[in-house]
Amino acid sequence: MCGIIGYTGPLNAKKILLDGLSQLEYRGYDSAGIAYFDAASKIQLVKKTGKVANLKEFCSRIQDNAHCGLGHTRWATHGDVTDQNAHPHQAGRVTLIHNGIIENYRELTRDYGLEGKLKSQTDSEVAAWVLDALYEGNPAKAIQNLLNHLEGSYGFCIMFADRPGEIYAVRNVSPLVAAYTHSGAIIASDLTALIPYTRRYFVLPEQQIVKLTAYQLTLYDKKGHPEEPEYLEVNWNMDAAMKNGFPHFMLKEIYEQPEALKNTILPRISKGLPDFTDDQIPDSVFETCDKIHIIACGTAMHAGMVARALSEPLLRIPVIVSIASEFRYEEPLINENTLVIVISQSGETIDTLAAMRLAKSYGSKTLSIVNVKGSTIARESDYVLYTHAGPEIAVASTKAYSVQLAALYMLICRMAFVRGKYSRDQSAAFLSSLLDVIPAMETMLSRKEEEKNLVTHLIQQSDTFFIGRGRDYAFSLEGALKLKEISYIHAEAYAAGELKHGTIALITEGVPVIAIATQERVFSKLISNVREVKARGAFVILLTKSSAVVEGNLADIHIRIPDVDDAFAVFPIAVILQLIAYYASLGKSLDVDQPRNLAKSVTVE
Ligand code: F6R
Repeated sequence: MCGIIGYTGPLNAKKILLDGLSQLEYRGYDSAGIAYFDAASKIQLVKKTGKVANLKEFCSRIQDNAHCGLGHTRWATHGDVTDQNAHPHQAGRVTLIHNGIIENYRELTRDYGLEGKLKSQTDSEVAAWVLDALYEGNPAKAIQNLLNHLEGSYGFCIMFADRPGEIYAVRNVSPLVAAYTHSGAIIASDLTALIPYTRRYFVLPEQQIVKLTAYQLTLYDKKGHPEEPEYLEVNWNMDAAMKNGFPHFMLKEIYEQPEALKNTILPRISKGLPDFTDDQIPDSVFETCDKIHIIACGTAMHAGMVARALSEPLLRIPVIVSIASEFRYEEPLINENTLVIVISQSGETIDTLAAMRLAKSYGSKTLSIVNVKGSTIARESDYVLYTHAGPEIAVASTKAYSVQLAALYMLICRMAFVRGKYSRDQSAAFLSSLLDVIPAMETMLSRKEEEKNLVTHLIQQSDTFFIGRGRDYAFSLEGALKLKEISYIHAEAYAAGELKHGTIALITEGVPVIAIATQERVFSKLISNVREVKARGAFVILLTKSSAVVEGNLADIHIRIPDVDDAFAVFPIAVILQLIAYYASLGKSLDVDQPRNLAKSVTVE
């Protein structure tokens, strides 16, 4: 949450900052601002509520050159959405941008007598004033001192009025990645802002200061001695972060799923079996555990729910799924024999990270499934399985979900093999079914007009129910989340058998019910539940496999997916659910990629 960028070098800093903010906008879009040294080495500040386009338009009227500056796009935590609360914040000689939350800002306000000085309601401005009070001409020393006073999470980029051309940065939990290129030094909260300039970058180690100038980038260890950064390479290219002819990132990312699945699955097949040798995950991790605990948030957690429904009956060990924000404050029943699987697209979600740290403190082995290379969760987990979805820009997660599923399916298959639940032939057959989902997803993508037409009824309603049983229920959780977050239609997922224990009271004439019925084992039960809602006037959208036999008048709309094995139906179903949400949002003329109140990468609690 909150996108931050800093640049110093020979190029046009204002352009780099504003372009970078457009790339980072998915991290927050309440307000945006930049600060830069002008030709007279004075710091200029421009900040505006609204989107980056608003700031860009305003900046286009300012004719001055800049080669060093900071930019910020905000997701509001402390303080309303106002120009004053927008970043950068200025306090005496200090100008800074911040991503995170300073928890002890009240105490600091009192201790440093800041009450009368603050121009905004933000915790970030408090940190700026404290830093100004500590600054005696040595930036690194003052920042180091500041860290001793702060509680909370932060990614700061800082300029000092008497240090033109220099940027200092430091972080705790909140992400920051940096690079030195032949055209200057750049730092940002996210790789997407760096890839137009370089693919070589490093993750700023926590509580270490980095100094950027046009000619040099210096990383200091915690004692203040220079240290060589650990550079990483990313294979994302600029195209991956552009819309490439699609009207929205979300639609583009939905279409990228078959490719993302290939990239995630194919390099990990060896001799017909899932193979994690290159990921350095030994079979002992799968052999020794007596329980699996999956931890994640939102869509990633829903991928975990599908994995649970698949793995528990197969592996015959308990598989538990926890919402990370709950798990982190519990006293979990886990130990050194528990395999904790942590799922996160960004690898930076604060609740997931905290939950993983808690799991480690219980001695459990942690295996993360992460999309962003070098992210905190990836670095801190004992093992990491990277998904290869490329950058996901739309706030609503789509391709990250299907690659998380693919990674989980491969892990489950390997586990079943090493634990003797699957023979070599059964494992190979499982993998072959997994690969079959790729053409099945392509088929659903080629029929997108079906989803486009079915939302006509949906978008006139205020509530929608998703129902399913077993795995279909797990799929429906994600369908409901996708619909509500981008179309603002209230959507709930229910285990179909649970409806008549209360919720069916809400089914009246025309209320949409999206029924997912892909699982042979519970198919007839689910169809009975569909009849029950139909009898109460529901507008039924039924999703089944092609070969399913249902009476003609049961559903108002019936969508059929290709006949994949039941265990794999989630993949083509995910495409339909994503497209339903996409077209519903479009049909209501909403901002598909940047829905209200949300932001990608939730780095605050
Ligand atoms: C919904 C969505 C969120 C994320 C959740 C976890 O479309 O994107 O629910 O799935 O915030 O994010 P990561 O996977 O980055 O930990």
